[in-house]
Amino acid sequence: MSELKNKKNQRDIQLGLAPMEGVTCLATRLWFSVTSTPDFAMTPFLRVTRDYPWKRVASTYAAEIFDLKDFTSYRLIPQLMGNSPEDLERIALPLLQGTSFVDVNCGCPSPKVVGSHAGSGLLEKQDVFESFLEGLEERLGHGQFSIKMRSGFLSHEEFPQLLKIVSKKNIAQLTLHARTRKDRYTGHAKWDLIDLATLSCPFPVVGSGDIINAESLAQFLRIAPKIDKVIIGRGALRNPWIFNELRSNKAVEITVSTLLLSLSCYAVLQELLAREPLKLFALVKAGLFLEACETDENKWEKLYHKLTETLYGQSVPPSSLQLDRASFARVKMIWNSLRSSLGSAFMNPLILRTSSFSDFEKEILNTAKVSSSQLLLNHNPQYDWIYSGAKSNGNEPT
Ligand SMILES: Cc1cc2nc3c(=O)[nH]c(=O)nc-3n(C[C@H](O)[C@H](O)[C@H](O)COP(=O)(O)O)c2cc1C
Repeated sequence: MSELKNKKNQRDIQLGLAPMEGVTCLATRLWFSVTSTPDFAMTPFLRVTRDYPWKRVASTYAAEIFDLKDFTSYRLIPQLMGNSPEDLERIALPLLQGTSFVDVNCGCPSPKVVGSHAGSGLLEKQDVFESFLEGLEERLGHGQFSIKMRSGFLSHEEFPQLLKIVSKKNIAQLTLHARTRKDRYTGHAKWDLIDLATLSCPFPVVGSGDIINAESLAQFLRIAPKIDKVIIGRGALRNPWIFNELRSNKAVEITVSTLLLSLSCYAVLQELLAREPLKLFALVKAGLFLEACETDENKWEKLYHKLTETLYGQSVPPSSLQLDRASFARVKMIWNSLRSSLGSAFMNPLILRTSSFSDFEKEILNTAKVSSSQLLLNHNPQYDWIYSGAKSNGNEPT
């Protein structure tokens, strides 16, 4: 681990929150900015077709590149997905008024997406992929878009040829999730292919896949020493404080009460986004998310009161929070990953089966027994099945 400090000190490595469809909405991005401050974030893909979205893009999709630009601690890269440069141009051009480039998804493995020749479906036929990129270059101009892709459709053997195509293009950056479409989320990302990309591309390469703690980042940097940026996806769901761990090279500890307060803030942020997005925008513009709370209980408490006062007109204790079903489902989704970093007691399925936020909070407190006890956020490999889809029951991410 000391190698990481000496070498790149996290040197100038920029740490980003990976795009995760169904997870990293505006509320989640803001929450991560106060847990551990990623340098940048990417929106989940916005699916673009001939008819969609036609009139306008939802105002919360990439608010941080327009209205909220000066009030977040992270830079936002909007991501689009489609198979037609013409359709993508229609949505990319207005976004390019607020950002220097848009990212184009060439990695999503979902059968529906692949079936429509978008996402990783674009990698299936290399001549199609090449002319797709040429079409984007023609329509958007040089350097105005970036690519996020997998390292092949069926096999990694396809990668050298794919890389040859991409490296000749004048793009803003390449993010490589070094698994094939066929791999989905199983196995381990092939970090040596990310290294190969850094050696071949005249533009920045962003590494993606299986960076889950300081130790794995150090290993990754040994294999891909020329990398400048990485993004963290599932590792951030297991440990929302991961960006601090990666910067300080030290595992994060948090008290149970602080953890609960942070989850309460997450819940209220989801409610605000769903019910009062303009009020949420106003809070962002007031600078509320510019200071990170990290593991400081007082800061989380202050943030929590501000959020509830804004939503309910008064401060409401977490035990009385009444959440919409969708917001509570989001909280449980985070918890489903986070619990695996806290040790076996927290894997107690009763917590996930609760039907209200107050019961959820009570079950966590019952499990912890003492609310002031310190919890170490640690990778426990025995729970990796939650993320790989390998033993899953249809809950595989898209
Ligand atoms: C639930 C989920 C949703 C995802 N959605 C997107 C997406 O919208 N766009 C994208 O480019 N990648 C998406 N990904 C892929 C991640 O950005 C990332 O490349 C991948 O998970 C590997 O990194 P990790 O091991 O740090 O999670 C998603 C991954 C997950 C787990």
